[in-house]
This record gives sequence, C-alpha cells and structure tokens, in this order.
Amino acid sequence: MNHITILGIESSCDDTSAAVIRDGVMLSNVIASQAVHEAFGGVVPELASRAHQQNIIPVVSEALKRAGIDKSELSALAFTRGPGLMGSLLVGTSFAKGFVTALDIPLIDVNHLQAHVMAHFIKESEDDHNQPSFPFICLLVSGGNSQIIRVNSYKDMEVIGQTIDDAAGEAFDKCAKVMDLGYPGGPVVDRLAKEGNPKAFTLNKPHIPGYNYSFSGLKTSFLYLLRDRIKEDPDFIEKNKQDLCASLQFTIVDILMDKLRKAVKDTGITEVAVAGGVSANSGVRNAFEDHARRYGWKIHLPKFSFTTDNAAMVAITGYYKYLDKDFCSIDEAPFSRVVL
Ligand code: KG4
Repeated sequence: MNHITILGIESSCDDTSAAVIRDGVMLSNVIASQAVHEAFGGVVPELASRAHQQNIIPVVSEALKRAGIDKSELSALAFTRGPGLMGSLLVGTSFAKGFVTALDIPLIDVNHLQAHVMAHFIKESEDDHNQPSFPFICLLVSGGNSQIIRVNSYKDMEVIGQTIDDAAGEAFDKCAKVMDLGYPGGPVVDRLAKEGNPKAFTLNKPHIPGYNYSFSGLKTSFLYLLRDRIKEDPDFIEKNKQDLCASLQFTIVDILMDKLRKAVKDTGITEVAVAGGVSANSGVRNAFEDHARRYGWKIHLPKFSFTTDNAAMVAITGYYKYLDKDFCSIDEAPFSRVVL
C-alpha cells in the first residue's frame, strides 16, 4: 500500500513544532516552546525568530525519529504560511522551501487559523472516529483571534463573526498582566478562578449587533474597577485575586457563548466545536458541556495538546490538501495578517 506521509511545520508565533501524519493518523508531534519571552510579559518578535532558527532542525529531526520514518518516505511538506509574526513565519517558510527542494517533494501552504479548526480531524489511531461532520460551527478563540466559523468542508470555512478589537486570549492575558500574574496569564486566571466567586464583581459586556465580538470595553472596565478599589485599599488585588479571576473568566465565557448560541440558533447547525489556545479554558469547556445538555448540541472539545499551536494541525490540513493535489509554488511568501 502507498502511504501518504506529511511532515508539518509550525512557526507562526513562539512555538517551533514539527509533526508527522501518515494516512491521517498522527505519528509524532514535537513542540519546542520559548521560555525567553516570560521575562518580557509577551512575545518579543526578534527573539522568537532567533529561537525558531535554533529549534527548527532539532525539532524536525526529533519528529521524524519519533515517527520512526526516514525523510525519504515523506510525500509532502506542509508549513504555516500565515497569519503570524513575519520573522517567525520566514524561518519556517525558508526551512520548508529548502527541505522540499532537496527531497523533490510537493510543498503545501497552510493557513494557521484553518489549521486550528482542522485540529479536530487529527486521528491518534486508526480507530479514532470522533471527528466532526460537515457542516459544523467552530468557535476559534486564541491569543490573536476570536471568530465564529461556519465550516462547510475542510477548504470552505466562512467567518460569520469575529472580534472588532481584542481577542478573548488577549483579554485574559492583559487583565492578568495588570494583576501581575505573569505571561501568558490565561492559564493562571483559569486556575485561580476555580477558587473564586464568579458573581463577586460585575464587568461590562458589549452590546454590538450580529455575531461579532468586542473585548476592549471589558478590559477597560476591569482596569477601572482595579483603579477605583486600589484607592480604597492598596491590597485590593492581592485580597481578591480569586474572585477577580472568577468574575473575569465568567464574563469572557458569557460573551463568547451569547454570540455562539445566536449563531447556532440562526444557522440551525447544532454540531459545535471549539479551537485555539483559549479552548483549554475550564470555563469555556464547562459552558460547552452545559450547552450540550441544555440545547442538545453535539460538541467537540479538542485534546489539550491540540489547543495551543502545534504542527499536527498543520500536517492534517496538509494531508487533506495533498488528497486534492492542492500544492503551492516555491515562490510563495508568508503573510502576517489575513482572515479565513
Ligand atoms: O492558540 P494560541 O496558543 O496562540 C495563538 O494566539 O495563536 O493561544 C494562546 C492564548 C493565550 O492568550 C493564552 O493565555 C490563552 O490562549 N490560553 C488560555 C488558557 N490556556 C491558554 N486562556 C484561558 N484559559 C486557559 N486555560
């Protein structure tokens, strides 16, 4: 039997990752994260590019080794072309072009946002049959994006709503930063929220039409709350950290689910998935489970290892593009900004 074996490369932000997928089944997924950014409270693009440059060859070698294959067995290479940080993308793109030229195999460009959605199609074994069926609605929530997508097929994804300012992950991270919780703050807020009262503080929710999101007003409202209460008590944050995190998380999840519920109701599509870094959040996951019980949604929650940036999602997208012989030219350049 002729196998289709795809090497995926992801380097859009601060994770260097390589993965091998054979006939739709994941054989390896190696991720090197970059601790260098923690001291700066956010990703420093120049440092990210340099770290990708150091990591990319060892990460690819390790992915091939763990998959138990030789590079001569590869059918094609799929790489993240954008959106992302230009310097980071250039490292992955240049590596990909050199690699396919040396091996004389096809090159496949992958949209990072599409890949997050496609993470739901990664099979971890031959008999893993939990993939969503088309069409389904996907809430894509990460550090840079918050979108509601109608997924008609792997290549037909229609963005029906998106944030008009900050992304949900950004709201978590920026509010965490003013509480001095480190970077990225989302997972810390999630942990502290478990010990707090979600109704302790009332924060602003946006009133915008359609399926679009806005998180900048919530961020300002959170900032003003802290500013006013610190005047009365300088230790306000320290004393109320858990309640602040619980109230913040409750409000973000509430905003996300309000619009998602509206999209499901209007489209009549009750198969609903969530993807991206914020899909690791326990409040988001509980809300999905609650909606499945209450409204009969068929839900798809990604495995934690596929919530953040990884190359397995790039490789699986590449696999489907390979089946369609949808290859890209060696001349293609990466792009930093784009919608689906
Ligand atoms: O998808 P991702 O890894 O990177 C991109 O933005 O492409 O998402 C990272 C975002 C960060 O904002 C991070 O704080 C957030 O996902 N995040 C979380 C959790 N885990 C990661 N936010 C809330 N709760 C979590 N458990």
